[in-house]
Amino acid sequence: MLQRMRALLPGRRSRTLSTTSPAKNPACAEFEVDNWAVSRFVLANLIPAVGVEPFPLHELMLMSSAVCRLRPPQIFEWGTHVGKSARVFYECARHYGIAVQIHSVDLPDEVDHVEHPQGLRGRLVRGLPGVHLHQGDGLEVSFSVWRASGRVPAPLFFIDGDHAYESVLRELSAVASEIPGASALLHDTFNQSSGSGYNVGPHRAIEEVLRTHPGRYRRIDSGLGLPGMTLLYQLRS
Ligand SMILES: C[S@@+](CC[C@H](N)C(=O)[O-])C[C@H]1O[C@@H](n2cnc3c(N)ncnc32)[C@H](O)[C@@H]1O
Repeated sequence: MLQRMRALLPGRRSRTLSTTSPAKNPACAEFEVDNWAVSRFVLANLIPAVGVEPFPLHELMLMSSAVCRLRPPQIFEWGTHVGKSARVFYECARHYGIAVQIHSVDLPDEVDHVEHPQGLRGRLVRGLPGVHLHQGDGLEVSFSVWRASGRVPAPLFFIDGDHAYESVLRELSAVASEIPGASALLHDTFNQSSGSGYNVGPHRAIEEVLRTHPGRYRRIDSGLGLPGMTLLYQLRS
């Protein structure tokens, strides 16, 4: 009992944490993972590395589940910021033995953006094997890396740059139009009615892209509250 409780405590990496993929029923129609196994992984390996901000527990679970179930050969993400999301993907792929190259993009240092991390850019992933840091516009750099690396099918995109409606619409529309087999995770997607004063631009952009590409994606929303994460996925047969 004591050993099981220790395995759940943040800050301790359990020697007994299973490395078996938590993806369940991969031959079935619905996206499914073992939620208890993913919870144990998040508590033991992710919380000590990245904490619960900006990604609360259930968003960390969604990110981990996406990597384990979709097994993308490449992940393209922006913006890097200090590297928390890239570190989540890295830890997940390392623990479960998933071969993935992670390309993380943030704006050049001279660009004036309220969230730009300047000298702290990518500090949590700098030098890690399989993690590549780039600077430029996330969409443009990612597409150019994807093309140059042989247009590998079924990459995963993590869209977490500028959260304006126009930006997310531009980025997700381009992914949907130009890389038909890609899946996408998006951050800050929680929807609420106008009395909240929340920015629901990312949510509106997702709705718009789903209208333009009917039947293309299945969808999982983290729900519950801010900031909110959405997975638009396609299962490989
Ligand atoms: C909310 S933070 C991202 C948090 C990050 N994913 C993490 O895990 O810590 C937004 C980041 O996106 C960057 N950004 C904004 N627009 C961008 C763009 N068009 N291309 C690349 N990065 C962008 C900002 O400089 C900032 O670092």
